Amino acid sequence: MGIKGEITFPGDKSISHRSLMFAALAEGTSRIANLSTGADVMSTRKCLEACGIQIQDDGDDVVITGGKFTDPKLPLDCGNSGTTTRLMLGLLAGQGINATFMGDNSLSDRPIGRILDPLSQMELRSESHHGKLPVTIHKSDLNGTHYESPVASAQVKSAILLAGLGARSDTSVTEPILSRNHTERMLKGMGAELFTDGLTVTVSPLKSSLLPFKLSVPGDPSTGAFFAAAAAMVPGSNIILNRILRNPTRIGFYSALYQMGGGMDCLDQWKESGEWIGKLNVFHQPLSGISITKNDVPGLIDELPIIAILATQAEGKTKVHGAEELRVKECDRIHAVCTNLKKMGADIYELKDGFIINGPTQLNGVEIETYQDHRIAMAFTIAGLVADGDVLLDDPECISISYPEFYKELARLKQ
Ligand code: S3P
Repeated sequence: MGIKGEITFPGDKSISHRSLMFAALAEGTSRIANLSTGADVMSTRKCLEACGIQIQDDGDDVVITGGKFTDPKLPLDCGNSGTTTRLMLGLLAGQGINATFMGDNSLSDRPIGRILDPLSQMELRSESHHGKLPVTIHKSDLNGTHYESPVASAQVKSAILLAGLGARSDTSVTEPILSRNHTERMLKGMGAELFTDGLTVTVSPLKSSLLPFKLSVPGDPSTGAFFAAAAAMVPGSNIILNRILRNPTRIGFYSALYQMGGGMDCLDQWKESGEWIGKLNVFHQPLSGISITKNDVPGLIDELPIIAILATQAEGKTKVHGAEELRVKECDRIHAVCTNLKKMGADIYELKDGFIINGPTQLNGVEIETYQDHRIAMAFTIAGLVADGDVLLDDPECISISYPEFYKELARLKQ
């Protein structure tokens, strides 16, 4: 059996969330093609609609009429989506909206103080449940601020910049390591006064409306990583990933796979709406272990679970350090990866901020606890391709958070 053929992915999740939110801020009508089909981006759409923004489907496109936000009548349900919660908090704070945010059990257990602390420094009035959801924000006259973020998080950076659009004076944020930069690129493209200087981004209060836009969202490289890993690990595989986002802040997984010896060629690369996009060929080759450290982590944060699976099939030691952020994702991903891989027979050692894996090992098919986390479910489905026996997930459907078509597409490429 090999993984063979071509695949094109729905739009990148991070850019899809931002496209909807930023189009809602613009004066006029924006059109977005190839939006992510996952439930997370649907949560963003519903929250925006609850705030009075008109969003319509037109064939496969989504058309957004930006304009004035209104106070939602009911609490905003962010579902499982950290990006919806964190970015909408900043955006609505900047628009002077009164709103309450809630989410599912996983989201209600994730830290929100990292957003409320800088926003309260900007004089936002808010209440939270001990630093977690539900959170209520009150219309406040925001002050510009400078915030030194203790974490390299695009969600924190974006929330502050979005709030800054509606503040009285300039707002800047410095992060310890560069995180994904979609917010900066997109807002600048829409006419915001925004400057990047090293790890500091400064935004000025909006003097005139943001410009509407047309965009076809590039394929999601985080979703593509599961298929690239499958092709790299399973003997006889050779796949083509079409129109995949190649933004330099998002290609950490592909660089890591290349460094591990994974077979990879970039067949074509071009720019669309200021973003690099590529056509990649990934094929099976022997893999070897690598070392991933703190500076690498933001560029591959969502791909670490699938990197752990790859490491079990690689010759030698793979070390991941500086990834403590993984503990506050949709689940504690360090724990989820280590417990499930140990159960499958991998030689893995859990660290506070990562893990060490000695490979290669023959994995065994076992029952996998997904913790209702889409990326854990997809990573262990791919592990199942090289396991002896069947991998059974306790909640296979949770993949619909980011990629509802995952099983169908994987089945299509399995030959
Ligand atoms: C995201 C940023 C990352 C990432 C998440 C999406 C974004 O989170 O893990 O899946 O779209 O800004 P952090 O910014 O909290 O690291």
